[in-house]
Amino acid sequence: MSDEEVTTGAPETNPDEPNEAGSGSDLMEKVVGLCKRRGFIFQSAEIYGGFRSTYDYGPLGVNLLRNVKNAWWQAMVQRRDDVVGLDAAVLSPPAVWQASGHLSNFTDPLVDCRKCHQRWRQDKIDGVCPNCGSTEFTEARAFNLMFKTHAGPLEDEGAVAYLRPETAQGMFTNFVNVLQTTRKKPPFGIAQVGKSFRNEITPQNFVFRTREFEQMEMEYFVPPADAQHWFEYWLAERLNWYLGLGIPEDKIRLRHHDADELSHYSAGTADVEFLFPWGWDELEGIANRTDFDLSAHAAASGEKLDYFDPTTNERYTPYVIEPAAGATRTMMAFLLAAFDEDEVGGEARTVLRLHPKLAPYQVAVLPLSKKDTLEPLGRQVLHSLQPHFMCDYDVTQGIGKRYRRQDEVGTPWCVTVDFDSLEDGAVTVRDRDTTAQVRVPIEGLVAELQRRVSAA
Ligand code: GAP
Repeated sequence: MSDEEVTTGAPETNPDEPNEAGSGSDLMEKVVGLCKRRGFIFQSAEIYGGFRSTYDYGPLGVNLLRNVKNAWWQAMVQRRDDVVGLDAAVLSPPAVWQASGHLSNFTDPLVDCRKCHQRWRQDKIDGVCPNCGSTEFTEARAFNLMFKTHAGPLEDEGAVAYLRPETAQGMFTNFVNVLQTTRKKPPFGIAQVGKSFRNEITPQNFVFRTREFEQMEMEYFVPPADAQHWFEYWLAERLNWYLGLGIPEDKIRLRHHDADELSHYSAGTADVEFLFPWGWDELEGIANRTDFDLSAHAAASGEKLDYFDPTTNERYTPYVIEPAAGATRTMMAFLLAAFDEDEVGGEARTVLRLHPKLAPYQVAVLPLSKKDTLEPLGRQVLHSLQPHFMCDYDVTQGIGKRYRRQDEVGTPWCVTVDFDSLEDGAVTVRDRDTTAQVRVPIEGLVAELQRRVSAA
């Protein structure tokens, strides 16, 4: 669908869903509208009226989300010799969640409004019903956020299974498998990217808090005496990761948790927070989980989940430093930070100033005219770029409109193939942010664009 055929979408809110006060802002509306209009994020099951708090990632969103996860994996696994990857099951038996403490502790305080009977998370509403304004509520009760299901054909107690509410437990239950198969020794980490599920009482703010989401988590196993050092190390590393991918310094900060905020497993947590349209809110939690999880699983399973250090002849249960980020939430933060409106040649434009490593398309190949004479060279240029970059190819409408369309989805470079290209073997490369255009020989195009990505 072309830009011109659609209007700016309204925010994707379900009237049945409670919403956080002050969450709707101009920026939020514009980004949510763009997400739908250009195929980043769609309401799930939209043709049936939408399914609460679930979203589908469209052709551009899937690229952006994948790039966020790849950038994380590259920083956390590929570029390190002390971290290995894992992809554990989403379904797991109650024993895992009994030992981890999630069955008893992974709860939010749920209250019902006595007037309109809407249900709310008590700690999010400041004592006033966001729906009807009443201040009369039922007593708060602990609502467990885990999704419960049954594995197999019998729906009895013995068949109960849970969808994981965090990827972390897979790293703990596989600790010995990884230790034995990789011969790593503390300090070392296990990283995982994947879906997690929480039956959130009040999912809200688009993909900020949903019931199905993706996490990027790493469990870093260290000698207990070194835990504080590694906690501080990972705070700095993680903050720099966001800065390096273009989140401005004034939109990101670290916030240390007070003692009464700590999760049941944590001896210290700091959040990486982003300045969302509704205020500072969490992107990632970095926690010192101590030996809580390994000790709990060792006690419950009867397996030894510790480490014998042959250099000191000591056996110990490692402490764990955990940087735990949300992939979908982080993608939203990158979109919000990148959204901009400016003027080019006296015309208003919307531009997503996404880092080239994150942009859904790094390059768009745009033959100047639809005429058959430019098509073969246009396709040849496209095919030479595709092994190296995610590319779009667009021949519809005038070149100005095509540039605007690419600006709006964050494509850093447009490559225009024109009639001179047939003669001089060169193309025009246009930069999204400066709109500067330079002529580049087709021969050196891949190298030039790779240089630009690396320099970004
Ligand atoms: N293993 C630790 C853990 O799961 P968490 O702070 O509950 O810690 C980590 O979650 C990150 O996962 C959060 O900082 C957030 O980015 C993301 N996240 C958590 N719940 C989410 C939800 N309902 N929707 C979207 N992202 C969520």
